Amino acid sequence: MTHNTFFIDGEEISFLPGQTIMDAALTAEVYIPHLCHYPGLTPHGNCRLCSVEIGNKSVAACTTPAAAGQHISCNTPALNEARKSITQMLFIEGEHICPSCEKTGNCKLQAMGYYLGMQDEHYPQFYQRRAIDASHASILLDHGRCILCDLCVRASREVDGKNVFAIAGRGTDAHLIVNSSTGKLIDSNIEVSDLAVNICPVGAIMIKKQGYELPIGQRIYDQHTIDEIGLQENTAKIPNQDDH
Ligand code: SF4
Ligand code: FES
Repeated sequence: MTHNTFFIDGEEISFLPGQTIMDAALTAEVYIPHLCHYPGLTPHGNCRLCSVEIGNKSVAACTTPAAAGQHISCNTPALNEARKSITQMLFIEGEHICPSCEKTGNCKLQAMGYYLGMQDEHYPQFYQRRAIDASHASILLDHGRCILCDLCVRASREVDGKNVFAIAGRGTDAHLIVNSSTGKLIDSNIEVSDLAVNICPVGAIMIKKQGYELPIGQRIYDQHTIDEIGLQENTAKIPNQDDH
């Protein structure tokens, strides 16, 4: 064994100094379920879908540095059951009624449900009523579908060079806010081409007037599983401030 390798479910994985378990695993084409990780953005550890075990300790793969000789459990029935429960909780916490959502077929939360074999929501629905910000001519923000993954916050700050979004409050009071004088998208400097607009894993940030351009049945997760797309995203180059 060389110094810079560790093991996931018995498979030896090489890593570079400074890489997280998630980055090293995806680079080696080993999928670890995730919703709030995106290659190139600073990891934040929000969703806990990527929880893995090192010995009997549970850690988030997206924020934990890889270390030589680690033996990590990832794809186990117990961990996948815990991931399914997290996914079910995300479903009941917001307005995730897939047949009436324009994002259906392109939604990572829905795709994660398929991947983990989720048959129902298990928990009682919250039926939260949260605001929709339809102020912008081209971009819709539906707070009821936000899973607080923080991806739009990081994408806006780290790639778009703006600071359009933030998460305010804590625990059950946590909510996404728009940094503008009125708190509305129309008064922010957001643009349709921003990564922040295109990175939302669910139907919370959507570009208007194109929801049904691609028919249901031909969408990303109608054709591919989330692990396939997760590995593809990792190899695709995304714009980075270092490139400017
Ligand atoms: Fe994540 Fe979308 Fe909510 Fe932003 S709006 S925090 S990208 S779910
Ligand atoms: Fe690691 Fe969300 S992907 S906590």
